[in-house]
Amino acid sequence: MSDLQKKNAGEAAAAYVEGGMVVGLGTGSTAAWFVKALAARNLPDLRCVPTSERTADLARELGLTLSTLEDTPKIDLTVDGADEIGPGLALIKGGGAALLREKLVWEASARCICIADAAKVVPALGTFPLPIEVVAFGHKTTANRIADVLADHDIASPARVREAERGLIRTDGGNLIYDAACKLIADPARLAADLKSLTGVVEHGLFLDLTDLAVIGTNEGFETLNP
Ligand code: 5RP
Repeated sequence: MSDLQKKNAGEAAAAYVEGGMVVGLGTGSTAAWFVKALAARNLPDLRCVPTSERTADLARELGLTLSTLEDTPKIDLTVDGADEIGPGLALIKGGGAALLREKLVWEASARCICIADAAKVVPALGTFPLPIEVVAFGHKTTANRIADVLADHDIASPARVREAERGLIRTDGGNLIYDAACKLIADPARLAADLKSLTGVVEHGLFLDLTDLAVIGTNEGFETLNP
């Protein structure tokens, strides 16, 4: 993980934003570099839709004008980080537990740019544990169903609930996160559909066919990847 690469990616992506746009602001350390670079550009008439309370706080602090999906349901461009970038720019996201709001904002966007350090680019998805957002009510029952789905995908280890010293991690929506150590996701589209079919699963961190461009930070600058 390279903070310089994250910074280079975030700053490069800020150049894709034009005045007057509605911009989706991602969550995480790379997205934070983008938010800072965007604020520094001081573009006129920007409205920004944050994907988490954390990003909203940062954007507000930096003087960016915030909006919501309710007030601005059509977003011109979203820029956000990723935990893994696989073939075809299929992503795993949700390491920062913001995957539900992120996906809502991505899906409302005409264009999505993924920003990351070079280590995030992988030949196949699955090394980073796949985050799955689950309703707290009955979550252990839902976890058993998730384990069945994972087993059907040859993933032996059950997903583990995410917790910190202070207890179970809650998302901005009040839900829980389970992390599935998949090792290899052979068929991301089928796994995405199977997880989504479970009652109690709110969303998963597979972002498929949503990324228009990836901006990968290098130590010297950045490179771009197309799907
Ligand atoms: C948050 C995310 C982040 O974009 C992802 O975890 C990458 O984070 P970072 O830029 O800090 O490496 O999906 O839910």
